Amino acid sequence: MKMRWTMALILGAFALAAGCGGGQAARASQLATVDGDADAAAPVFAANCAGCHGPEGRGKKGSPDLTSDHVRGMSKEKIARVILGGDGPMPGFADKLDDAQVASLIAWIKRGPTQD
Ligand code: HEC
Repeated sequence: MKMRWTMALILGAFALAAGCGGGQAARASQLATVDGDADAAAPVFAANCAGCHGPEGRGKKGSPDLTSDHVRGMSKEKIARVILGGDGPMPGFADKLDDAQVASLIAWIKRGPTQD
């Protein structure tokens, strides 16, 4: 009986550890299945991203050009992970943006801002 409690505690601890941090990865893979509305991205981009990546996402001062083939070729899941969790000097937006906003940014990047 005592063994069972110990096991339950250990399993509980694992579940907690998986919950923190694992949540963002799960959200990213879920977002990869969503077709975001690229047309809705402009104000979200202007408010959160343009300061670093430039008004059209073409990059400036150490922040990469988001219209490059490299970035557009990234998987939706990879882009979602960067937006949610950040990347080097870039902050994460997991708490700032809702799923629809992140999905629209992903769709906008994939579509290629030049086609606006
Ligand atoms: C504080 C400045 C800053 C802000 C704000 C910012 N970024 Fe970034 N972003 C960067 C930098 C710097 C990198 C490159 C990080 C690296 O190479 O380690 C980056 C990388 C990226 C990448 C990955 C590029 C690659 O080649 O791997 C994507 C996609 C991206 N940003 C999108 C966005 C989006 C969308 C937003 C708004 C929600 C945003 N960024 C906001 C600075 C910023």
